[in-house]
Order: sequence, then structure tokens, then C-alpha cells
Amino acid sequence: MLRGSLAYPFLLGVLCFSTSQAVAQPGATEPPEAYKSIFQPLPMTAENPANPLTPEKIALGKSLYNDARFSQSKKISCNSCHLLSSYGVDHQPTSNGHKGQRGSRNAPTVYNAALHFAQFWDGRAKDVEEQALGPIMNPVEMAMGSETDVLGVVKSIPLYVKAFKKVFPEEQDPVTFKNLGKAIGAFERTLITPTRFDAFLKGDPKALTPEEKKGLALFRDLGCVACHNSPTVGGQMYQKIGLVKEYPTKDLGRYGVTKNEADKYFFKVPSLRNIEKTGPYFHDGQVNTLKEAVTLMGRHQLGRELNDEQINSVIVFLKTLTAKPPRGTVTG
Ligand code: HEC
Ligand code: HEC
Repeated sequence: MLRGSLAYPFLLGVLCFSTSQAVAQPGATEPPEAYKSIFQPLPMTAENPANPLTPEKIALGKSLYNDARFSQSKKISCNSCHLLSSYGVDHQPTSNGHKGQRGSRNAPTVYNAALHFAQFWDGRAKDVEEQALGPIMNPVEMAMGSETDVLGVVKSIPLYVKAFKKVFPEEQDPVTFKNLGKAIGAFERTLITPTRFDAFLKGDPKALTPEEKKGLALFRDLGCVACHNSPTVGGQMYQKIGLVKEYPTKDLGRYGVTKNEADKYFFKVPSLRNIEKTGPYFHDGQVNTLKEAVTLMGRHQLGRELNDEQINSVIVFLKTLTAKPPRGTVTG
């Protein structure tokens, strides 16, 4: 594997130089089965029985995803903020939307998002089908005035009308807002990025290097896995930012949706898939490096000051969650 063979000797050199006892740490020889109850390999696609995947629907969703005609300025598409060629993010703390306006939150990656238990940092949309309709109307994102305006765009493009008929053949008038969400959602359900970590979880102990396995064991033993688990290594629960030690932020997170006192400062635990490539970090995009993100997690979520050796080891593991760009999607 090209990426692995280039990165590994360098990392190994750094680790051996800085920590002679690291070699003797546990974890390097633990078998994949040891992690069965914590992580599972990614599926090929994120299935939704209410929105069955067909090649035509996925292709339609991909066109819509990339089409800036669904924005008031005709300049912004989903791909403006979730660049498929940049691991599904824009690398901005907060995104540039309609007329350069910025929201208050960082754009999460669309890769593997369909597998999350809810969408958005505060979980205000239940799935990618529902989520996809939000930004089109959001005044600081694509800023379309009404559903009628959006459907007017679809209807003005004969190729789309034809495609909607083909994708939803059983419907009299298939050009609906809901079907637009279904098509974009179907495309997003294919944006799944397995890596060597999945090969490891499937039973190949050699898919990860000893250093990477040490990092994985440390990630577990520190307690990161209490929140970052499952195939997406996150994305399956809400948790308070600043659980152990208060974290300064004005954003009340999930509270904004439920108005329940107990939900203040709760956010959806982000997936750590491709985390190496999706900075800046946290809901407000204020954390620039992975090193800083891991340090803050230790401090605020676990009440621990992690040392450099621990932080570097965790990062060695986190990098195994970086996918090689899949053909036709991540193309960078
Ligand atoms: C102007 C930038 C912008 C545009 C355009 C945009 N998004 Fe987003 N997207 C964001 C931001 C910012 C968030 C996080 C907002 C929040 O959580 O409150 C987000 C969240 C999401 C999420 C949730 C992911 C997760 O892990 O919770 C998905 C999925 C998504 N967008 C898909 C899309 C799709 C599909 C489109 C096009 C229809 C789109 N976005 C257009 C900026 C954008
Ligand atoms: C109690 C739950 C919990 C624990 C334990 C936890 N995290 Fe997190 N993690 C979160 C939440 C919630 C966020 C989102 C914080 C925010 O954006 O304000 C997060 C965010 C992150 C991010 C940034 C993700 C992004 O896309 O911006 C990284 C990296 C991360 N965690 C790694 C770790 C590591 C490494 C550990 C162990 C040292 C850990 N976490 C322990 C809940 C947790």
C-alpha cells in the first residue's frame, strides 16, 4: 500500500526516538476480535428501507448535489461547502454561503454522514433525505425562497424532469420536494469510505502496523470509545462538550432543538472517519489541528492532561481512518 509504506517508516522513526518504552506497551498484538463490541466494519452503502438505492436515483442525486442552479445566486451547490474532492468539507471554520454570509457552525463532512443516527451538530434532521432540503432554503446557505421556486428550477430543466420520472416511475407527479431529498440522500448513502481499519476489523491483524494498533488500544483505554464507537467511530449519540471540565462556547447545541435544560452544550459526537483530512475541528471550527483537538478531548471530556506521546499515538491510530479517495467521489 503506497500511502502506508510512505508514512510508516517516518512515524516509526519518530515514535521509537521519543519513547523507547512505547515498544513494550500493550495493544500492538491484540487481535481484531478484541474490538468487536466497540467497532464494526463500514457497510458498502448506508441502506434506508424508505429510500431504496437504484443506480438511476444515485446518479440523479449526484447531479443535484453538484448543481448550483438550486441556489438563489446560481453559484452555490452542496459541493461548495462539502467538496467531494476534499473529503466532504470546505476547510473553513464556518462556511461561506449566500452572498458570503457565514453561519455559526463548521460544515461536517458528507462522507459516511448517512450512517449517523441523526444529522447536523444538534441532530435537528433525522436523516440525509430530510437534511438535504434544509440548506437549499437556508437564507445563509443556498437561499432559495420557496419549495415552488426550487421545483420551478427542476421543471425548467427537461433532463431533470425525465430523470425524476425514471427514478420514481410509480408516481403521477414525481417532481416533488420530498423526492429531491430522496435523490440527494440516495447519493449520500453511497459516500462510504472504508480503510485498512475495516480490513483489520474484518479479521486481518496485519492490516494495521504495531504502532497503529498501539494507538487504537490507547484510544480505547483512555475512554475515547465511550463516545466515539461503532462503524463511524462516532455519530451515534449526543454528548456534552465539557463533560468533565467546562468548555467555553456560546452555542447551546441540542438545547436549541429541544429547549430541555439537560441538553445544554450537548452535540452529536462527530464521526472520526477521515478526521485527519476534515479540519478545522469542533462545532465552531475553532480548533485548527488534530493535536489540539485530541488534547482538548482529553482535558474536557476525560479530565486528563494527555502527554505528547499519548497524543501522537492516538493520532497514529486516527490516521488509519483516512480513506484513499474512492474513484468518482473523492477525486483530489
Ligand atoms: C453554505 C455552506 C453549505 C451548503 C451550500 C450546504 N451545506 Fe451542508 N452543512 C453546512 C453546515 C455549516 C452544516 C452544519 C450545520 C449545523 O450542524 O447546524 C452542514 C451540515 C450538513 C450535513 C450533516 C452532516 C452531519 O454529520 O451531521 C449534511 C449531510 C449536509 N450538510 C449535506 C448537504 C447537502 C446535501 C447540501 C446541498 C443540498 C448541503 N449540505 C449544502 C454547510 C453547507
Ligand atoms: C464524553 C464523550 C466524548 C469522549 C469521551 C471523547 N469525545 Fe471526542 N468528541 C465528543 C464531542 C461531543 C465532540 C464534539 C465537540 C464540539 O464540536 O464541540 C467531539 C469531538 C472530537 C474531535 C473533533 C471532531 C470534529 O470533526 O471536529 C476529535 C478529533 C475527537 N473528539 C477525538 C477524541 C479523542 C481522541 C478522545 C479520547 C482522548 C475523545 N474524542 C473522547 C465527545 C467525546
